[in-house]
Amino acid sequence: MLLEQNAPVANRSAMGSTNKLKLGIFGCNLNSGKNATLVPERWSGSWDDNVRLAQMADDYGLEFFLPLGRWRGWGGATHYQESSFETLTWAAALLALTKRITIFGTVHTPIFHPVVAAKQMVTADHAGHGRFGLNLVVGNKDEEFGMFGVSLLEHDERYAHGQEWLDIVRRLWTEPENFDFNGKYFQLTDVLSKPKPYGGTQPLLLNAGLSEIGQDFGVRNCDAFFTAVRASEFDAQSGIVTPDVAGVAKIVDSLRARAAAVGRTMGVYTNVNVICRPTQKEAIEYYRYVLDEHADWEAVDAQLQQQGIARDLHSPTYLAHRQRAIRQFPFIGDPDTVAGLFQTLSDVGFDGIGMTIVNYLDELPYLRAEIIPRLEKAGLRAPKGSERES
Ligand SMILES: Cc1cc2nc3c(=O)[nH]c(=O)nc-3n(C[C@H](O)[C@H](O)[C@H](O)COP(=O)(O)O)c2cc1C
Repeated sequence: MLLEQNAPVANRSAMGSTNKLKLGIFGCNLNSGKNATLVPERWSGSWDDNVRLAQMADDYGLEFFLPLGRWRGWGGATHYQESSFETLTWAAALLALTKRITIFGTVHTPIFHPVVAAKQMVTADHAGHGRFGLNLVVGNKDEEFGMFGVSLLEHDERYAHGQEWLDIVRRLWTEPENFDFNGKYFQLTDVLSKPKPYGGTQPLLLNAGLSEIGQDFGVRNCDAFFTAVRASEFDAQSGIVTPDVAGVAKIVDSLRARAAAVGRTMGVYTNVNVICRPTQKEAIEYYRYVLDEHADWEAVDAQLQQQGIARDLHSPTYLAHRQRAIRQFPFIGDPDTVAGLFQTLSDVGFDGIGMTIVNYLDELPYLRAEIIPRLEKAGLRAPKGSERES
């Protein structure tokens, strides 16, 4: 039976919503999501849990679902992120099972042929009546690509390759006639692809490059840009996080200004790790239980090693790296505290936030009951239904 879906999204970059602060789920296509923890309630990443979560998020009026494209995990006692669904097929299936939420697929440009990927994405887009979005990733972990027989190009050149890749995909999505493509990386003859994306528009494009060249790519091409909020103070005793408001605002403003300078508007997004409990004390206790006493440190060490940070448990600097890596950007606290942090990130200019949660399905109903009404009261979100774009 076909689900009755929303009419095609006219302004895809708004994700079908007029909410000032858009909300999404990040990383649920992997086992453990983004929390390297041993606790038994950690995220299963199973297909059925993904479907339940997508339908719940859709029902609650969340705007997006963003997976992580990952080919190998990090080991450790939990085999952290070793089990992951390929994201284009994951997105296509979930789009057919939901009604209004935007669902992204993540493509690594070094290993997906653009002609194949363009068609896969169109398939997903039709399954969702225009709700597919692309997270374009040029690759940043060389060891992920050995099993494809591919070595990554030098960092900046990856984005030149990615640009050609995207130019081909865009042409496939828009040009009615066959074409040849003679680039530096791709030489293609008599290329065509039908059908085009749903409703005569193109999928929303997102990128999350941290480097200058990655940001340039985003500014030139993307509708949405994800940037990590790194600089912040965190008090491990109280769980209180104090975002570096001035520093973050500078990054957000500069990204927007760079997009405006080339005549584009680009949404700016970030991701946070939410632990919300009725009291501050309960929240910080749960944080310590999950991400300190029951951390999967072996998996965290493997991630740090990949970044060139050698394990040294006697070094306070190394221990600080470990803490930062495991907690990510934490929103820990009671509902007022957590809602206040969402407000702060909206005030510095973010258009939306992707959430990671220890167990997404168990905890999303609580966030729906406690956080979303506070965001509605603050004018950041409209009650579900009234925020839809006409
Ligand atoms: C929110 C977010 C999502 C990302 N998703 C992926 C992903 O799915 N797969 C991946 O390999 N890298 C992912 N990345 C990494 C970026 O694509 C990028 O490679 C990284 O930020 C380094 O930036 P650079 O390429 O400009 O050096 C993500 C980063 C962020 C902040």
